[in-house]
Amino acid sequence: MTNPSTPPLDQTGEWTPEQLREALVLASDWAAEYRAGVRERPIVPGVQPGDIAARLGDHAPDRPAPFADVLREFKNTIVPGLTHWNHPGFMAYFCSSSRGASVAAELLVAAVGVNAMLWRTSPAATEVETTAVKWLRECLGLPAAYDGLILDTASTSTFTAVLAARERATARHAGAPLAVYASEQAHSSVDKSVMAAGIGRTMLRHVECDHQLSMRPAALREAMRRDAAAGITPAMVVGTIGTTSTAAVDPIDGVADVASEHGAWLHIDAAYAGPAAMLPEQRHRFTGWQRADSIVLNPHKWLATSLDCSVLLYRDAEAMRAPLALTPAYLETGTGAENLMEIGLPLGRRFRGLKLWVLFKCVGTENIRNTLRGHIAMAESAARKLTDGGLFELVVPPSFGTVCFRTTGDDPVAEDRRSRAVMAQVNATGGTYVSHTVLGERYVIRLSVGSVHTTPRDLDAAVTSLRAAAAATAG
Ligand SMILES: Cc1ncc(COP(=O)(O)O)c(C=O)c1O
Repeated sequence: MTNPSTPPLDQTGEWTPEQLREALVLASDWAAEYRAGVRERPIVPGVQPGDIAARLGDHAPDRPAPFADVLREFKNTIVPGLTHWNHPGFMAYFCSSSRGASVAAELLVAAVGVNAMLWRTSPAATEVETTAVKWLRECLGLPAAYDGLILDTASTSTFTAVLAARERATARHAGAPLAVYASEQAHSSVDKSVMAAGIGRTMLRHVECDHQLSMRPAALREAMRRDAAAGITPAMVVGTIGTTSTAAVDPIDGVADVASEHGAWLHIDAAYAGPAAMLPEQRHRFTGWQRADSIVLNPHKWLATSLDCSVLLYRDAEAMRAPLALTPAYLETGTGAENLMEIGLPLGRRFRGLKLWVLFKCVGTENIRNTLRGHIAMAESAARKLTDGGLFELVVPPSFGTVCFRTTGDDPVAEDRRSRAVMAQVNATGGTYVSHTVLGERYVIRLSVGSVHTTPRDLDAAVTSLRAAAAATAG
């Protein structure tokens, strides 16, 4: 007798084409319903560490289960433990939402399941990736001198750039210790990259910022001069356009001038804000970035291709290949074509280019620009509405889609406690989710508008909720 809960499999032990079709219909119906109703769910689940794992079973099952049963368990056990990044009230961190086009593209990527490590292992995957990156590069107003590829995260992209910078500096000044420079506000992925590249964390100089939290070129010049005088090679400068805490912008032209005095590699971290260069009215904030040796931006943040999709652009492909130039005999193809695995650490490469290509095709650059503009306008309006009436003060002016603020009052310790309480109250509503940072030892609430699902109505709800919490906690 066959067990009715055991699905029939074909002779390879794989689902039959009919089973696959049924499963895809069930999964896609669920996905569409989920996204239509996500607004009704609390953004952050009320679970404790270990709650979900305890319900998943201790051991892998010996026997296959029908997909319908597994989907039911997914809905009942796993989804209630998710944080809903595609909820329109998600305004924490930098949002990483996913457009419908990217959800559909992910399905195609999984269906073909190709590995884009070599051109030969899937020629179209390499060429879709390089085409989509070229389209993006053009939209950003960067010169054709930049090539690029897609990696998983900005951390990996920056690490790959650090390796290239290390190689170039070592070739020029063999044996000398190397130093890397980034502002005090740079993302921790720069620290990690410097550590992972073996340069040593203490050789990352955190350069002082001005009151706008942008790197001071004069401080950079002094730090590089001091190192060079001590026999240390200034290998690399990382400028940031859109810092993690406040979306501050380093003055890239000035930073590039200083970097070039020492022949240092210039890398720009525009992981979050990079897409704003698609807007002519925001381009001035990017002045000088076309002088960089490499640039990272994450379409999985503000362009809403789903995680993961990080674009690394570079001027000198040979310099990018040099640190890890190694092709074993079993990977030699002799095609003379571009093999993307030659840049960076991973060999296996997902077909991420399809997500970016489908995004451009299904959404179009005009729509993308409108979304970015809408987010910036919403952030500016949030800043006005939050500060109206004096409950909150801005810590810095809103930048791109990000607003940083705190409760107002004379006692900094009490106000920090209050800002913390406001954030906790608002997040507990489940309808809005904001996050925090710490600046000059003061607690700061961050609201970042970056989800394709967020509307002015959601923004107003967030502001109302924040204001109510601030009023309720006022002394
Ligand atoms: C400015 C900046 N750079 C880099 C990163 C790291 O991004 P990823 O998670 O893609 O490594 C972040 C993350 O938010 C960021 O804000």
